[in-house]
Amino acid sequence: MSANVGSPRTARDSKAQASEQAIDQAAVGVWLFGARGLLAGELLRLLELHPRLSLEGAVSRSAQPLSQAHPHWLGDKLTQTSEEAVDQIAKRLATKDKAAVFLALPHGDSAAVVAALHQRLGKDFERLALVDLAADFRLADPALYRSAYGHEHPAPAELAGFAYGLPELNRAAIQKHGRAAAAGCFATALQLASAPAARAGLLDAKLPWHFFGVTGSSGSGAEPKPGTHHPHRHGNLWAYSLEGHRHQAELVQCLRPLGMEPPIVFLPHSGPFARGIHLTAALPLARAATTQSALEIYSQAYAGEAFVEVLEGRVPDLRSVAASNRASIGVHVRGSVLCVLVTLDNVVKGGAGQALQCMNVILGFPETWGLPRFGLGVC
Ligand SMILES: NC(=O)c1ccc[n+]([C@@H]2O[C@H](COP(=O)([O-])OP(=O)(O)OC[C@H]3O[C@@H](n4cnc5c(N)ncnc54)[C@H](OP(=O)(O)O)[C@@H]3O)[C@@H](O)[C@H]2O)c1
Repeated sequence: MSANVGSPRTARDSKAQASEQAIDQAAVGVWLFGARGLLAGELLRLLELHPRLSLEGAVSRSAQPLSQAHPHWLGDKLTQTSEEAVDQIAKRLATKDKAAVFLALPHGDSAAVVAALHQRLGKDFERLALVDLAADFRLADPALYRSAYGHEHPAPAELAGFAYGLPELNRAAIQKHGRAAAAGCFATALQLASAPAARAGLLDAKLPWHFFGVTGSSGSGAEPKPGTHHPHRHGNLWAYSLEGHRHQAELVQCLRPLGMEPPIVFLPHSGPFARGIHLTAALPLARAATTQSALEIYSQAYAGEAFVEVLEGRVPDLRSVAASNRASIGVHVRGSVLCVLVTLDNVVKGGAGQALQCMNVILGFPETWGLPRFGLGVC
């Protein structure tokens, strides 16, 4: 069985490397909004590894040097206001150079920045490479957005300009749109777990699909909260969002084109660790299958993917993927149920790494640039 990541170079990599000469050698300037946030800190780390993206501006509500919020980062940079950044981006695009923007803002705040960029840049907005890490533009259908978030979408006219940012399932659209809404962390695991079997017609959409997920404390962002306080979180485990988690809507969106609307029972939990998501899916089979036949479906679906590995003979674990952009998948058939296990780092493959992967797709760079495929191995 192919373990895609283990091989030193994937098919997609080789193709990308072969065309590297054709890629513009000039660095592309990056503006990072929400600069003191947790995912912004991870993006700073990843950008250091990227051969062509270079940080030009960091937008923050605070004038503190970035190194105070992100002591792991060796660079230094003064922050700027959103208005200053939008102005700089407009000037950069007016020279016909490229510009790239990551929005690592709280949910709801990205839409206002997108509207401001669109208004200030005019026609040049179409040339801006933009990835939003929040949930503002993930759901293309305003009615689905309303049912997940409980209010009207703040900028429905911008929705069509965004592709859903999960490259393994939606690469062509990301390339075409030039703007992406990076998939949610749990949403990434939910879809990587179920899309291959759903697309292969292996699953029964009349019966409930069960997902049990555990996430680390970094999922709650940089600001301390009661649920992330160490004495409470350490050695503890609890369920939340039992009435339904917003990320379910992203799975609903993924399944709709297949004509599938199964009852989804997703039970998220907060776990006693900082990075990582472990998801266990129990999915009803529509026809007989074996572990081997299911493994073949998943291996084929992710063949050539640099950041998804399908394991045989071992189960995914968190430590192997921590700090990497990789998702590990295990597949097992028990009677009439397909069990799929997924681990990923919510900060990387479920957050900043996914956003950078989308940006690489948008800019035509090799998808692996700036993105580690190897986990920490130890804590
Ligand atoms: N953490 C994860 O695992 C994860 C994974 C996937 C997606 N996401 C999404 O990605 C986005 C960023 O996540 P994060 O974990 O980096 O969040 P975070 O740590 O809370 O950072 C968000 C940053 O946005 C800025 N900001 C601007 N207006 C703000 C306001 N009114 N209130 C609070 N902060 C404001 C702040 O930066 P300044 O102080 O510099 O202004 C803040 O540090 C969120 O939409 C989140 O849902 C998070």
